[in-house]
Amino acid sequence: MAHILSAVAWPYANGPRHIGHVAGFGVPSDVFSRYMRMAGHDVLMVSGTDEHGTPILVQAEQEGVGPQVLADRYNRVIVEDLTKLGLSYDLFTRTTTGNHYAVAQEMFRTVHKNGYLVEQTTMGAISPSTGRTLPDRYIEGTCPRCGYDGARGDQCDNCGNQLDAIELKNPRSRINGETPVFVESNQFFLDLPALVDSLEAWLRSREAWRPNVLKFSLNLLADVRPRAMTRDIDWGIPVPLDGWESNPSKRLYVWFDAVIGYLSASVEWARRTGDVDAWRAWWNDEQARSYYFMGKDNITFHSQIWPAELLAYDGRGSRGGAPGAYGALNLPTEVVSSEFLTMEGKQFSSSRGVVIYVRDMLARYQPDALRYYISIAGPENQDSDFTWAEFKRRTNDELVAAWGNLVNRTANLIHKNFGEIPAPGVLEPADRELLAATQGGFATVGEMVGAHRQRAAVGEAMRLVTEANRYLSETEPWKLKAPEQRERLATVLSTAAQAISDCRTMLSPFLPHSAQVVHEAFGGTGTVSPLPRIEEVTDLDDPSRQYPVITGDYTLGQTLAAWASVPVVPGTPVGPAVPVFTKLDDSIVETELERLRDESSGA
Ligand code: MF3
Ligand code: ZN
Repeated sequence: MAHILSAVAWPYANGPRHIGHVAGFGVPSDVFSRYMRMAGHDVLMVSGTDEHGTPILVQAEQEGVGPQVLADRYNRVIVEDLTKLGLSYDLFTRTTTGNHYAVAQEMFRTVHKNGYLVEQTTMGAISPSTGRTLPDRYIEGTCPRCGYDGARGDQCDNCGNQLDAIELKNPRSRINGETPVFVESNQFFLDLPALVDSLEAWLRSREAWRPNVLKFSLNLLADVRPRAMTRDIDWGIPVPLDGWESNPSKRLYVWFDAVIGYLSASVEWARRTGDVDAWRAWWNDEQARSYYFMGKDNITFHSQIWPAELLAYDGRGSRGGAPGAYGALNLPTEVVSSEFLTMEGKQFSSSRGVVIYVRDMLARYQPDALRYYISIAGPENQDSDFTWAEFKRRTNDELVAAWGNLVNRTANLIHKNFGEIPAPGVLEPADRELLAATQGGFATVGEMVGAHRQRAAVGEAMRLVTEANRYLSETEPWKLKAPEQRERLATVLSTAAQAISDCRTMLSPFLPHSAQVVHEAFGGTGTVSPLPRIEEVTDLDDPSRQYPVITGDYTLGQTLAAWASVPVVPGTPVGPAVPVFTKLDDSIVETELERLRDESSGA
């Protein structure tokens, strides 16, 4: 039993999320958290919407509203989508809460007091035509490291290096193409060079990270410079220092505050449970483990910036220092980053219409069909592609024909012949073999999920489904009609029901919605895979403000939902089978591709 923090990347509240996003941070973190809860651990799964910075400002301008109105708009959309997908956050909140402001400012103050935030004069970009500051990511130019021409002022997506806009060759505004002017401006810099030894020691002590993530993170250490953690911008958290706090045009850098969300959401969760210190078990106890889930464009911030903030807060860099009010905070156990999902061979792009939004997908298809696709064919260790043909094939061949059909024919046979789960007679070798296989699956599948090998894990669970189907084909219970075969019929159907129950348990982290349906198809009661709910809450520090959060009671059926084979109970009534999965018509492929063509041509 351990305390396990599932720290899930915070989506920007600047638009609805597409399936590439939830393939990166969403489904993998939920599968992991669900499994860990079933295995008996104390899981705290937190996230929220990321609501500061230029991504929000720019979209607000486009929609002709203020940044808070925009963030309110998309926070709600994102909360609804993630809930429908069944993501089991203990708390999904946002970065514009009073609680988050307070936690972020406490982090800043202590890191500053410990000497790791240093004021420096920098050259900031200004748009000559408007006179306004031009945020780094709205400047484009040639990367000074690799020569890539599409580098942004904050980062080069080609080589992954972080940049300062002033380093770009041939810089230009992405808004109107003009050449920015650079003027002097004071900012606070996180002194990464004073933290690099501790960072490196921590990274070198990491075990079992995906090799590409660890390698990328270690490479970042080769070029460590102070990074600006404040910005000339009027939307964000005020810099909590005399002379800065009241300055309306200086704010914390969005990434400085967003990563603090993991801590602030844990604190908010604790405050809402009534035990204000409950978060500490995940953050102060060195035995606790923390897993951070994201897409690969977020690695730098989770394997360097966030650990550096934590080391600086703890006073563990070369300048020394002491922890602030939150005490010494744990660094990530593991940064679990996935690669990118593409769509019909192309990069997702909302602006170019190469996109399928989560809510559109869920309006037409079952959430577990999407979760299944992401689990079995997602970008776990390399980029992977979503195609409608493959989505249809996997849904129909694997969910409907293999798993759904196993459930249906077994439930129907039991219903027709016994009306309840029959008591088994003497087991034959074939029966024992199947049961040994499914019971053995708990160790194999569980270990794989624990090691973030979800594709292999769900593949193994589905292999057991195939075994169970083969068992039925071989034992042919539908032919066991004679009275003297009734005991054998009972044994076969009871064995099949047990194998299904085991497969259902193993599949439930991946397919929580259908797991519940399967459980009930065999007369089960109670909750085997709890689902999240939306709650409208009042800001803990500002009674005039309400917002929706995702939360849930995921320990509901802890015994029912344990990661173990639970014996089926003879005598449990079994009604006629209801379909678990919806078969997709061949025509959906053409229809969806047509829709995509319309959207990308702007029709
Ligand atoms: N909003 C960022 C993105 O979408 C992710 C922030 S993750 C957090 O890329 F760690 F900062 F919270
Ligand atoms: Zn580059």
